[in-house]
Amino acid sequence: MGGRVILAVETSCDDTCAAVVGLDGVIHANVISSQTVHDRFGGVVPEIASRQHLEQITPVIDAALTQAEVGLDKITRVAATRGPGLVAALLVGFSAAKGLAAGRELPFTGVDHLHGHLAASFLNGFDPPFLCLIASGGHTLLARVTRPEGPAEILGQTLDDAAGEAFDKGARLLGLGYPGGAALSRLAADGDPAAFRFPVGARMGGLDFSFAGLKTALLYKTRELGAEETARRRADLAAAYEAAIVEALMIRLRRAVQTTGATRIALGGGVAANGPLRAAVAALGLEHDVPVPALCTDNAAMIAAAALHLPAQPYPTYLGLDVYATGERPLAAPA
Ligand code: KG4
Ligand code: ZN
Repeated sequence: MGGRVILAVETSCDDTCAAVVGLDGVIHANVISSQTVHDRFGGVVPEIASRQHLEQITPVIDAALTQAEVGLDKITRVAATRGPGLVAALLVGFSAAKGLAAGRELPFTGVDHLHGHLAASFLNGFDPPFLCLIASGGHTLLARVTRPEGPAEILGQTLDDAAGEAFDKGARLLGLGYPGGAALSRLAADGDPAAFRFPVGARMGGLDFSFAGLKTALLYKTRELGAEETARRRADLAAAYEAAIVEALMIRLRRAVQTTGATRIALGGGVAANGPLRAAVAALGLEHDVPVPALCTDNAAMIAAAALHLPAQPYPTYLGLDVYATGERPLAAPA
């Protein structure tokens, strides 16, 4: 493959990712190595994630270059996720990417992880302006995206658990594995969403989300039913629980559409793979984009997509750049 390409790296949580994307936005490789060692702990253990990234980062970058059929000499720029995320995990990918860039004196771009999620839609040719709902295991937010380089305006975000976390905690209560969002959704397909009523926080005004009460409501319901009845009605519990999460997301999305007058919507994050959520968004009848699952969950192609619209820092000005754990920087501002 000829042409000029960007190499991007993402290691903010438990996926080691590298991608090669053309400056025209064409994806030549998007390699994702998901860590499964955390399953037995029921959540991501930062130190283990970091060590796994260390083992995986070189093979994953090599695999991306091999798949894209490019040598390092064809790379014109390197990008990596700078934050927010687990610092020990971020450091592995960010340092490896900076090192690769410095070794060839290439320009480098640090990318905000959330800017990456909303930039996934750019890869589909779905450009701003749009309203973006990002729902993943780590984040849940609504943002108004007006320019591809950002900054996006955050309209609302979760005050406690993320939507994916709510799915995972519910799945755990129903005896499903971790992360259990997809499994809970499969179980829900055989249940009656009207069998139980779980809180969706409708009385909470504004565009912020809260899922902690929902998880507690499911816990109390399973205690009230007892082990036997809970097991017998698992599909109904899953269906009602899933319906509540989807409705909680949709209430805020509909409100945001109303208040902003937006006519275009993009979905992102792992929860965007959820069937009922996709159907509910489609039912709004607005122009919308939902990237394929590999671009919704954490990946490096979305980091490249964001980087393409951000300034590249020349060598060696980026050597002192550090990662950040929380979104103290404005979303999508040049890192
Ligand atoms: O974007 P993602 O890979 O990022 C994080 O690591 O945060 O999202 C993973 C989340 C998990 O919580 C998982 O349970 C959820 O997305 N998820 C789903 C589905 N597929 C993945 N939740 C509901 N329905 C699904 N089909
Ligand atoms: Zn993410």
